[in-house]
Amino acid sequence: MSTPDLRQALRSETAASHRQLDQRMGDLDLFGSPQHYAAYLALMHSLHLAMADSINCVANHLNLSSNEVLIRSLEQDLDSTGHASLRNQSANTTQQNGSDTVRERRSPSAEQWGTAYVIEGSSMGGVFLYRQAQQKLDPYLGSEFLRQLSGHAADRWPRFIEGLRATDIDSDRAITSAKATFRQAEIILEQLLLRLNRSEDEERTHGSSNLSDLGGQH
Ligand code: HEM
Repeated sequence: MSTPDLRQALRSETAASHRQLDQRMGDLDLFGSPQHYAAYLALMHSLHLAMADSINCVANHLNLSSNEVLIRSLEQDLDSTGHASLRNQSANTTQQNGSDTVRERRSPSAEQWGTAYVIEGSSMGGVFLYRQAQQKLDPYLGSEFLRQLSGHAADRWPRFIEGLRATDIDSDRAITSAKATFRQAEIILEQLLLRLNRSEDEERTHGSSNLSDLGGQH
């Protein structure tokens, strides 16, 4: 069934999931320590890799750039935190759907629109986060991803919404997919936080920084 305003439906149907994710990240104090910032970057890296097919199929349909540049800046910023191993972990735990596979022009499915909505929408938070990063982040830590994300909120997000409003897709399928994407983000974040807590415990026990363990195997 299609809905007159799919964006509003997606927004209200996923509001609780967003609140939960937002709260969990707020608790982290993202810019209070390089590890917490690295956890955020690793989450976004993981999501961009895992959802590349959907993001790039929709992007291609709307003549928007693929997420390759964002992925590269995530990797550079993660490197600057000293936790490049997290980046490898992200790549290992998610399915790498190379954007090369979606070069051909095909209409995105309702599920792909739903997933792309969640990832594209995260640029809205990027504005707020980039502002915070400029005030709080140590200058040696890279914030290129947040800078780009913040720009996307102004120029890319309106084009995405325009495209979403112009489609005639099954709303229920898009909403189910958006909810599943938020759920996946929650799961990845929980995994990252577990690893973070474990490594902080070890640091307390051994009295030395052992944060490179964040990038180890499960
Ligand atoms: C600390 C991290 C985050 C903060 C502070 C944040 C904050 C925000 C803010 C302020 C908005 C604009 C809300 C509005 O205009 O009413 C927004 C929108 C949105 N965010 Fe986040 N966000 C965060 C993380 C995320 C993540 C990780 C995702 C997805 C993986 C996400 C997905 C979305 C979506 C889909 C929207 C668009 C809602 C809509 O207007 O349709 N956010 N976020």
